[in-house]
Amino acid sequence: MENNNIDLLQLSLNYILSQSIFVAAEIKLHKLLMSPKTAIEIASATNCNVKVLERVLNVLFAHKIIARNEGGQYIATECLNQLELISPVFIGKTSFNVFSHTLDSVKTGQPAWEAVFGHNFYDTLNQKKDWSAEFNHWNEITGHAWLTQLVEAYDFSIYKIIVDLGGGHGVFLSFLQKQHPNLKGIIFDRPDCQEQAIKNIEKNNIANRCSFQSGDFLKSIPQKGDAYCFSRVLLNFSDEMINHIFQICQRDMPPTAKLIIIDALMPPENHPTFPFAAMNHLHLFMLMGGARRTKKEWEKLLGQNGFKINQFLSDVGGFGLFLLEG
Ligand SMILES: C[S@@+](CC[C@H](N)C(=O)[O-])C[C@H]1O[C@@H](n2cnc3c(N)ncnc32)[C@H](O)[C@@H]1O
Repeated sequence: MENNNIDLLQLSLNYILSQSIFVAAEIKLHKLLMSPKTAIEIASATNCNVKVLERVLNVLFAHKIIARNEGGQYIATECLNQLELISPVFIGKTSFNVFSHTLDSVKTGQPAWEAVFGHNFYDTLNQKKDWSAEFNHWNEITGHAWLTQLVEAYDFSIYKIIVDLGGGHGVFLSFLQKQHPNLKGIIFDRPDCQEQAIKNIEKNNIANRCSFQSGDFLKSIPQKGDAYCFSRVLLNFSDEMINHIFQICQRDMPPTAKLIIIDALMPPENHPTFPFAAMNHLHLFMLMGGARRTKKEWEKLLGQNGFKINQFLSDVGGFGLFLLEG
């Protein structure tokens, strides 16, 4: 068969690659391959069937995710070390099921998560504490990897109290507070984030100026900040939900307070990250009804809720993050 005949066939089998990466994440292959190992050694360390595992390893090898030496031992590559940024629950156990309903979503216009799990994304997490813990942990790891550059990119020193809405375990706020010794902060998030957020506050020695407040920003937000930040939160919501959230912000934020949005931008079609962003855009919809948005779309959403963009900084973090102040 000619190569150009198998291109589309190969692409159509990418779910096999995705599931092989899921297996690698689940067995923590990057940790096992801190030293080269044979398939038999990996299988025995992980209680797997060597014949099937070998085929999975072969798929990863064929896609240059792992290497193989002449003695048949597998070796980690730089790519494999990014496995830390992959959540086994969200790639393998949930998204995969959700995406088997893509055609249904195309017909109904509805995200498939609710059809598969019976509740919307965050209500499911409120009930499944182990998934919630993994989601929060993933946000913490990727926060360390992607949010640091933001601290330098924008002058946060002009604020006295930052309220980090959907602040998770407080990774971003602690970066900011370490940089600005007078800055006070409130991490506002679902109760599931409380325990680890408080541990992090103590670990970072900021307990005298940082607190955790549990709550639901769909209902109300703390009223005493002079800056309100949404970092990697609004991409999880539809335009309708964002209109609702912005109305809550307009109601509860002091009139002079600023809104700071850190989110993942939809890049132009000729940008190298466009293929990834296009998939992420669909992924966000299928799970949560969310989206990647362009600057123009943000201007519209903010404008129709009484906000305007004062500063827009793009490409300020990993994952195509931008920051806007309005
Ligand atoms: C993708 S995470 C981002 C976490 C953190 N801001 C960061 O950048 O690492 C989205 C966060 O929004 C929180 N969240 C979602 N819905 C919420 C709600 N209705 N009220 C409060 N927090 C919410 C989630 O619990 C989660 O911590």
